[in-house]
Amino acid sequence: MNGSSTGARSGPLTIRGAVLERIGAERPYARSAPLRVQELTLDPPGPGELLVRIEAAGLCHSDLSVVDGNRVRPVPMLLGHESAGTVERVGAEVTDLAPGDRVVMVFLPRCGECAECRTEGRLPCSRGSVANNAGELLGGGRRLHRPVGGHPDAGDGPGAGDGSGAGAGAPAMEDVHHHLGVSGFATHAVVDRRSVVPIGADVPAGVAAVLGCAVLTGGGAVVNAARPGPEDDVVIVGLGGVGMAALLVARALTSGTVTAVDQQESKLELARRLGADRALTPRQAEEDGIRAVAVIEAAGHPRAFETAVRLTAPGGTTVTVGLPAPDARAEISPLVLTAEARTIVGSYLGSAVPARDIPRFEALWREGKLPLEELISGTIGLDQVNEGMDRLADGLAVRQVIQF
Ligand SMILES: NC(=O)c1ccc[n+]([C@@H]2O[C@H](COP(=O)([O-])OP(=O)(O)OC[C@H]3O[C@@H](n4cnc5c(N)ncnc54)[C@H](O)[C@@H]3O)[C@@H](O)[C@H]2O)c1
Ligand SMILES: [Zn+2]
Ligand SMILES: [Zn+2]
Repeated sequence: MNGSSTGARSGPLTIRGAVLERIGAERPYARSAPLRVQELTLDPPGPGELLVRIEAAGLCHSDLSVVDGNRVRPVPMLLGHESAGTVERVGAEVTDLAPGDRVVMVFLPRCGECAECRTEGRLPCSRGSVANNAGELLGGGRRLHRPVGGHPDAGDGPGAGDGSGAGAGAPAMEDVHHHLGVSGFATHAVVDRRSVVPIGADVPAGVAAVLGCAVLTGGGAVVNAARPGPEDDVVIVGLGGVGMAALLVARALTSGTVTAVDQQESKLELARRLGADRALTPRQAEEDGIRAVAVIEAAGHPRAFETAVRLTAPGGTTVTVGLPAPDARAEISPLVLTAEARTIVGSYLGSAVPARDIPRFEALWREGKLPLEELISGTIGLDQVNEGMDRLADGLAVRQVIQF
């Protein structure tokens, strides 16, 4: 069909993926099953696109935020944005990757042409953001399709398959939206070339996956936004996958005191094991008078943001990475900002240029300075994705990774 592509497969492909059918389902998700694993039809890659066989996909709070409605996106949507895999087929205009190459998916493509793309990562690509908000790929449109309402015979979640529609000729088809240009909770994905970064054959699949979101976001917030000096103190508030990755990167790059802050004792224990000099609850950190010149908020809650601001030293920088609900509000003192010459800065995608920064974190991992395996708190199958969302919502997981 698409004679301009090279690689083993041609024509559309039948894949299995986890589709979010509706927003704001009741908990537990294990019972309400907002994500339904089902068969879909995936178009062949366009000229500037790739077909990737997914090896692993991490569950990030930003996936949960689509499920619980904190970040409203169009449904049905095949979720997942922290994934890695092997290229199976490339479009005619892709000249620097070939079938067999391994790639990390990045959740915001950089078009390389807009004004924002000329800010060294400081601003998110405007064209990439428009495509992401529409649930489309950077080149426009959707490559995922299914019979209206899903395949009658596929899927194992509630609501799957009452048999109606069988035998009535070709079913009417509908598009399924892409999540952040990736849709990685699936056996395969078609993505824009600008949504991937190549990765070495020696990187385990789970580690490759977390490089694409947790490490790029948390690590990038440290090196690109907070930019501590080699002896500066660092505080991380919120110790999920993103905050724990920020902790690992800070530990690898600074000899100052690194303080980890979370409400969950299990997170504090892990942070100590990963090299935090101090691991404290928000209250303990404030009572102990902790202040640092580089503070990263990676919780996604306004109270955590307020904690992060209060723990920032004179002249220091608070980097906010979390994505709270749009109507969340925080209280801060403008006077303190002025009197202490402080900076508050937001950071999306680690303020990163992924093609520059992912290889940097990959090299630190290879040198043994960034034990990224420690971020993976559990491995699950695609069919357990709803249970995984429950664990994430309970704050019990660092990174759960779906292995294919
Ligand atoms: N800016 C970006 O580009 C980007 C990328 C990925 C994720 N995110 C966002 O970053 C945040 C973290 O993501 P994650 O996947 O690591 O989430 P997570 O749910 O795994 O971890 C959040 C952690 O914050 C802790 N926490 C909650 N409230 C707190 C408080 N008041 N004080 C201290 N700790 C508190 C929780 O106990 C938990 O350990 C989310 O909001 C996510 O949507 C942003
Ligand atoms: Zn993420
Ligand atoms: Zn751009």
